[in-house]
Amino acid sequence: MLRNFTLYVEKDYQTMSQKAAEIFAAAVNLAPTGAYGFATGSTPIGMYEALIKMHKCNKVNLSAITAFNLDEYYPISASDPQSYQYYMRKNLFDAVNLPPANTHIPSGEAKNPLAECIAYDEKIAAAGGINTQILGIGNNGHIGFNEPDKGLMATTCYIPLAEATIDANARFFASAKDIPRHALTMGMHSIMMARQIILLASGEGKADILNKALRGPITTNVPASLLQLHHDVIIVADQPAASLLN
Ligand code: F6R
Repeated sequence: MLRNFTLYVEKDYQTMSQKAAEIFAAAVNLAPTGAYGFATGSTPIGMYEALIKMHKCNKVNLSAITAFNLDEYYPISASDPQSYQYYMRKNLFDAVNLPPANTHIPSGEAKNPLAECIAYDEKIAAAGGINTQILGIGNNGHIGFNEPDKGLMATTCYIPLAEATIDANARFFASAKDIPRHALTMGMHSIMMARQIILLASGEGKADILNKALRGPITTNVPASLLQLHHDVIIVADQPAASLLN
């Protein structure tokens, strides 16, 4: 049984992306100077494209929001095309004239990653907390880079990546030795404090884990299952990803 969730099942990736963009834009239009949480990965790219189109025809104004990204590889240079800094500029920020000072991503260049994590949570708090957080879901149930484990971290933290995640992300790197083994990620509390969460899932490959996350027991072995404890989660999935949810 699905609890607490608002579920939209759209026929394909394109309509799913459009739906997610409309929900997100409605939240931004209500609070245009609020803080919003962004994800990277392949899933939100269509949603970001739809948001850019909406921005161009004045249906949403993203230029005054404050943006906080979920995570970043560590170590990685901000100019590396595989960095999430680079991804966000290319796929969204540059196209919506969001001043760089309004965008925050844990720094893969920080000399002291632990201090960077503490400072990141302080910045989110100083911005008044996140209104709407966009999430994707990993094949192993991770959200952000909170990987399945016996325990999960509450605050933004420096963590080793799971082998499954390294394998899943290998497609983006020229060779295995280039894939970072660590990341900085918002922790479970940092994510769960968002007032609203939009979880995106696309493709048959996500069907099993989405079903486990939404209907299975709440367990740190499936970090996304903790979303069952959040009061306002909107799932936007395409039919293949939602195929196991009746
Ligand atoms: C990215 C992130 C990850 C991805 C997840 C799904 O910022 O936090 O949790 O959302 O790995 O990635 P894709 O969308 O590539 O399947």
